[in-house]
Amino acid sequence: MARSLSTSERTLHRKLKIACGESPKSFIDRIRVETARTLLETSEKPVKELAASAGFIDEASFRRAFRRYAGMAPSAYRVWARAKAQDKAQIFSVKKSEIIPEILTTILDTCVNGITLTDPDLEDAPIVYVNKRFEEITGYEPREILGRNCRFLQGQDRDQEGLQRLRESIRSRQPVEVTLRNYRKDGVLFHNKLNITPLFDEQGTLIYFLGVQYDVTEQVRAEAEIGDLRARLKAIA
Ligand SMILES: Cc1cc2nc3c(=O)[nH]c(=O)nc-3n(C[C@H](O)[C@H](O)[C@H](O)COP(=O)(O)O)c2cc1C
Repeated sequence: MARSLSTSERTLHRKLKIACGESPKSFIDRIRVETARTLLETSEKPVKELAASAGFIDEASFRRAFRRYAGMAPSAYRVWARAKAQDKAQIFSVKKSEIIPEILTTILDTCVNGITLTDPDLEDAPIVYVNKRFEEITGYEPREILGRNCRFLQGQDRDQEGLQRLRESIRSRQPVEVTLRNYRKDGVLFHNKLNITPLFDEQGTLIYFLGVQYDVTEQVRAEAEIGDLRARLKAIA
Protein backbone atom coordinates (compact mmCIF):
# COMPACT_ATOMS: atom_id res chain seq x y z
CA MET A 1 0.00 0.00 0.00
CA ALA A 2 2.84 2.36 0.93
CA ARG A 3 4.58 1.61 -2.35
CA SER A 4 1.45 2.35 -4.41
CA LEU A 5 1.15 5.69 -2.65
CA SER A 6 4.89 6.42 -3.14
CA THR A 7 5.47 6.85 0.55
CA SER A 8 7.24 5.01 3.35
CA GLU A 9 5.52 2.49 5.59
CA ARG A 10 6.17 4.71 8.58
CA THR A 11 4.56 7.74 6.94
CA LEU A 12 1.60 5.64 5.87
CA HIS A 13 1.08 4.46 9.46
CA ARG A 14 1.33 8.01 10.77
CA LYS A 15 -0.94 9.60 8.14
CA LEU A 16 -3.62 6.90 8.47
CA LYS A 17 -3.56 7.28 12.24
CA ILE A 18 -4.19 11.02 11.85
CA ALA A 19 -6.82 10.60 9.12
CA CYS A 20 -8.91 7.80 10.63
CA GLY A 21 -7.24 6.63 13.82
CA GLU A 22 -6.45 3.20 12.39
CA SER A 23 -3.50 1.03 11.45
CA PRO A 24 -3.21 0.06 7.75
CA LYS A 25 -4.23 -3.51 8.69
CA SER A 26 -7.47 -2.52 10.40
CA PHE A 27 -8.14 0.10 7.70
CA ILE A 28 -7.89 -2.57 4.99
CA ASP A 29 -10.04 -5.02 6.97
CA ARG A 30 -12.69 -2.35 7.52
CA ILE A 31 -12.81 -1.41 3.84
CA ARG A 32 -13.08 -5.10 2.92
CA VAL A 33 -15.92 -5.59 5.40
CA GLU A 34 -17.68 -2.54 3.98
CA THR A 35 -17.31 -4.00 0.49
CA ALA A 36 -18.68 -7.31 1.75
CA ARG A 37 -21.63 -5.51 3.35
CA THR A 38 -22.52 -3.90 0.04
CA LEU A 39 -22.23 -7.25 -1.73
CA LEU A 40 -24.40 -8.95 0.91
CA GLU A 41 -27.02 -6.26 0.48
CA THR A 42 -27.03 -6.16 -3.30
CA SER A 43 -26.20 -9.66 -4.55
CA GLU A 44 -27.43 -13.21 -4.04
CA LYS A 45 -23.90 -14.60 -3.99
CA PRO A 46 -23.21 -17.20 -1.29
CA VAL A 47 -21.07 -15.99 1.63
CA LYS A 48 -18.17 -18.22 0.50
CA GLU A 49 -17.88 -16.43 -2.84
CA LEU A 50 -18.22 -13.01 -1.27
CA ALA A 51 -15.11 -13.50 0.85
CA ALA A 52 -12.88 -13.56 -2.24
CA SER A 53 -14.76 -10.75 -4.02
CA ALA A 54 -14.25 -8.51 -1.00
CA GLY A 55 -10.52 -9.28 -0.94
CA PHE A 56 -10.22 -11.78 1.92
CA ILE A 57 -7.83 -14.69 1.48
CA ASP A 58 -10.23 -17.25 2.92
CA GLU A 59 -13.72 -17.64 4.34
CA ALA A 60 -12.60 -18.03 7.96
CA SER A 61 -10.70 -14.73 8.04
CA PHE A 62 -13.66 -13.06 6.30
CA ARG A 63 -16.12 -14.35 8.93
CA ARG A 64 -13.82 -13.29 11.77
CA ALA A 65 -13.28 -9.77 10.42
CA PHE A 66 -16.96 -9.41 9.55
CA ARG A 67 -18.10 -10.32 13.06
CA ARG A 68 -15.58 -7.92 14.57
CA TYR A 69 -16.70 -4.93 12.49
CA ALA A 70 -20.39 -5.66 11.84
CA GLY A 71 -21.17 -7.38 15.16
CA MET A 72 -22.98 -10.32 13.53
CA ALA A 73 -22.45 -13.19 11.10
CA PRO A 74 -22.54 -12.36 7.34
CA SER A 75 -25.73 -14.38 6.70
CA ALA A 76 -27.49 -12.69 9.63
CA TYR A 77 -26.36 -9.33 8.29
CA ARG A 78 -27.98 -10.10 4.93
CA VAL A 79 -31.36 -10.74 6.62
CA TRP A 80 -31.03 -7.70 8.84
CA ALA A 81 -29.99 -5.34 6.03
CA ARG A 82 -32.84 -6.42 3.77
CA ALA A 83 -35.41 -6.07 6.49
CA LYS A 84 -34.07 -2.62 7.25
CA ALA A 85 -33.90 -1.45 3.66
CA GLN A 86 -37.21 -2.79 2.48
CA ASP A 87 -40.65 -3.21 3.82
CA LYS A 88 -40.68 -5.82 6.58
CA ALA A 89 -42.82 -8.16 4.48
CA GLN A 90 -40.15 -8.22 1.79
CA ILE A 91 -37.71 -10.12 3.96
CA PHE A 92 -39.53 -13.27 2.95
CA SER A 93 -37.99 -12.90 -0.48
CA VAL A 94 -34.79 -14.22 1.14
CA LYS A 95 -36.21 -17.68 0.64
CA LYS A 96 -37.76 -19.12 -2.52
CA SER A 97 -38.57 -15.63 -3.85
CA GLU A 98 -41.79 -15.74 -1.89
CA ILE A 99 -43.14 -12.60 -0.35
CA ILE A 100 -45.75 -12.63 2.36
CA PRO A 101 -48.45 -10.29 1.12
CA GLU A 102 -48.88 -7.04 2.97
CA ILE A 103 -52.38 -8.01 4.03
CA LEU A 104 -51.07 -11.11 5.79
CA THR A 105 -48.44 -9.17 7.74
CA THR A 106 -51.20 -6.73 8.76
CA ILE A 107 -53.25 -9.64 10.06
CA LEU A 108 -50.25 -11.08 11.92
CA ASP A 109 -49.62 -7.66 13.46
CA THR A 110 -53.07 -7.65 15.06
CA CYS A 111 -52.48 -11.01 16.80
CA VAL A 112 -52.49 -10.99 20.59
CA ASN A 113 -49.48 -13.34 20.58
CA GLY A 114 -45.94 -12.66 19.50
CA ILE A 115 -45.08 -14.37 16.21
CA THR A 116 -41.60 -15.12 14.90
CA LEU A 117 -40.10 -17.02 12.01
CA THR A 118 -36.56 -18.34 12.16
CA ASP A 119 -34.53 -19.64 9.23
CA PRO A 120 -32.83 -22.98 9.99
CA ASP A 121 -30.74 -22.73 6.79
CA LEU A 122 -28.84 -19.68 7.99
CA GLU A 123 -25.97 -19.72 10.46
CA ASP A 124 -27.31 -19.91 14.04
CA ALA A 125 -30.95 -19.92 12.83
CA PRO A 126 -31.68 -16.18 13.03
CA ILE A 127 -35.09 -14.53 13.29
CA VAL A 128 -36.27 -13.38 9.87
CA TYR A 129 -39.72 -12.11 10.80
CA VAL A 130 -41.41 -10.72 13.91
CA ASN A 131 -44.86 -9.27 14.31
CA LYS A 132 -45.80 -6.11 16.24
CA ARG A 133 -46.87 -7.98 19.39
CA PHE A 134 -43.40 -9.55 19.69
CA GLU A 135 -41.93 -6.04 19.65
CA GLU A 136 -44.37 -4.97 22.37
CA ILE A 137 -43.70 -7.99 24.60
CA THR A 138 -39.91 -7.67 24.35
CA GLY A 139 -39.52 -3.90 24.02
CA TYR A 140 -37.05 -4.37 21.13
CA GLU A 141 -37.39 -2.82 17.66
CA PRO A 142 -37.24 -5.07 14.55
CA ARG A 143 -33.76 -3.84 13.63
CA GLU A 144 -32.54 -5.04 17.04
CA ILE A 145 -34.23 -8.45 16.67
CA LEU A 146 -33.88 -9.53 13.03
CA GLY A 147 -30.76 -11.51 12.24
CA ARG A 148 -30.29 -12.72 15.84
CA ASN A 149 -31.06 -16.08 17.43
CA CYS A 150 -34.03 -15.83 19.83
CA ARG A 151 -31.86 -16.97 22.75
CA PHE A 152 -30.77 -13.35 23.32
CA LEU A 153 -34.05 -12.95 25.25
CA GLN A 154 -32.74 -15.30 27.95
CA GLY A 155 -29.85 -12.97 28.78
CA GLN A 156 -27.54 -14.65 31.34
CA ASP A 157 -30.41 -16.86 32.61
CA ARG A 158 -29.37 -19.91 30.56
CA ASP A 159 -29.89 -22.71 33.07
CA GLN A 160 -33.60 -23.29 32.45
CA GLU A 161 -35.73 -26.40 32.75
CA GLY A 162 -37.42 -26.26 29.34
CA LEU A 163 -34.29 -25.57 27.29
CA GLN A 164 -33.09 -29.16 26.86
CA ARG A 165 -36.52 -30.29 25.62
CA LEU A 166 -36.63 -27.28 23.30
CA ARG A 167 -33.20 -28.10 21.81
CA GLU A 168 -34.13 -31.74 21.26
CA SER A 169 -37.43 -30.86 19.57
CA ILE A 170 -35.72 -28.35 17.27
CA ARG A 171 -33.03 -30.90 16.42
CA SER A 172 -35.65 -33.57 15.62
CA ARG A 173 -37.95 -31.04 13.92
CA GLN A 174 -40.86 -31.68 16.25
CA PRO A 175 -43.36 -29.16 17.62
CA VAL A 176 -42.80 -28.16 21.23
CA GLU A 177 -44.22 -25.92 23.95
CA VAL A 178 -42.16 -24.62 26.88
CA THR A 179 -42.34 -21.68 29.26
CA LEU A 180 -39.07 -19.76 29.54
CA ARG A 181 -37.83 -16.87 31.62
CA ASN A 182 -37.08 -14.06 29.18
CA TYR A 183 -35.97 -10.47 29.67
CA ARG A 184 -37.28 -7.35 28.01
CA LYS A 185 -34.94 -4.70 26.62
CA ASP A 186 -35.33 -2.77 29.89
CA GLY A 187 -34.18 -5.88 31.79
CA VAL A 188 -37.60 -6.75 33.26
CA LEU A 189 -38.34 -10.49 33.53
CA PHE A 190 -41.33 -11.96 31.72
CA HIS A 191 -42.52 -15.55 31.45
CA ASN A 192 -42.72 -16.57 27.83
CA LYS A 193 -44.95 -19.49 26.91
CA LEU A 194 -43.33 -20.46 23.66
CA ASN A 195 -44.87 -22.71 21.07
CA ILE A 196 -42.65 -23.82 18.19
CA THR A 197 -43.83 -25.52 14.99
CA PRO A 198 -41.57 -26.61 12.11
CA LEU A 199 -42.89 -25.52 8.71
CA PHE A 200 -42.25 -27.84 5.76
CA ASP A 201 -42.80 -27.32 2.03
CA GLU A 202 -44.59 -29.76 -0.29
CA GLN A 203 -41.39 -31.82 -0.68
CA GLY A 204 -41.08 -32.19 3.08
CA THR A 205 -38.11 -29.81 3.29
CA LEU A 206 -37.94 -27.74 6.45
CA ILE A 207 -38.30 -24.07 5.51
CA TYR A 208 -38.85 -22.15 8.74
CA PHE A 209 -39.64 -22.61 12.40
CA LEU A 210 -42.71 -20.71 13.49
CA GLY A 211 -42.62 -19.40 17.06
CA VAL A 212 -45.68 -18.18 18.93
CA GLN A 213 -44.87 -16.26 22.11
CA TYR A 214 -47.44 -15.71 24.81
CA ASP A 215 -46.64 -13.54 27.83
CA VAL A 216 -47.88 -15.58 30.84
CA THR A 217 -46.18 -13.52 33.55
CA GLU A 218 -49.46 -12.80 35.36
CA GLN A 219 -50.51 -16.46 35.35
CA VAL A 220 -47.09 -17.61 36.61
CA ARG A 221 -47.26 -15.04 39.42
CA ALA A 222 -50.84 -16.02 40.33
CA GLU A 223 -49.91 -19.72 40.40
CA ALA A 224 -46.91 -18.99 42.62
CA GLU A 225 -49.16 -17.01 44.97
CA ILE A 226 -51.74 -19.81 45.11
CA GLY A 227 -48.97 -22.33 45.81
CA ASP A 228 -47.69 -20.12 48.59
CA LEU A 229 -51.18 -19.74 50.13
CA ARG A 230 -51.76 -23.50 49.93
CA ALA A 231 -48.49 -24.15 51.74
CA ARG A 232 -49.42 -21.67 54.47
CA LEU A 233 -52.92 -23.16 54.89
CA LYS A 234 -51.39 -26.61 55.14
CA ALA A 235 -48.98 -25.39 57.79
CA ILE A 236 -51.87 -23.90 59.82
CA ALA A 237 -54.01 -27.01 59.43
C1 LIG B 1 -39.15 -20.08 16.02
C2 LIG B 1 -38.37 -20.00 17.31
C3 LIG B 1 -38.71 -19.03 18.24
C4 LIG B 1 -38.03 -18.92 19.45
N1 LIG B 1 -38.38 -17.96 20.34
C5 LIG B 1 -37.73 -17.86 21.51
C6 LIG B 1 -38.10 -16.88 22.46
O1 LIG B 1 -39.03 -16.08 22.27
N2 LIG B 1 -37.41 -16.82 23.62
C7 LIG B 1 -36.39 -17.69 23.91
O2 LIG B 1 -35.80 -17.59 24.99
N3 LIG B 1 -36.01 -18.64 23.03
C8 LIG B 1 -36.66 -18.75 21.85
N4 LIG B 1 -36.30 -19.72 20.95
C9 LIG B 1 -35.27 -20.72 21.34
C10 LIG B 1 -33.83 -20.32 21.02
O3 LIG B 1 -33.73 -19.80 19.73
C11 LIG B 1 -32.91 -21.55 21.11
O4 LIG B 1 -33.38 -22.54 20.26
C12 LIG B 1 -32.83 -22.10 22.52
O5 LIG B 1 -32.24 -21.13 23.37
C13 LIG B 1 -32.03 -23.41 22.65
O6 LIG B 1 -30.86 -23.35 21.92
P1 LIG B 1 -29.42 -22.86 22.49
O7 LIG B 1 -28.99 -23.82 23.54
O8 LIG B 1 -28.56 -22.86 21.27
O9 LIG B 1 -29.61 -21.48 23.05
C14 LIG B 1 -36.98 -19.84 19.74
C15 LIG B 1 -36.62 -20.82 18.79
C16 LIG B 1 -37.32 -20.90 17.60
C17 LIG B 1 -36.92 -21.97 16.60
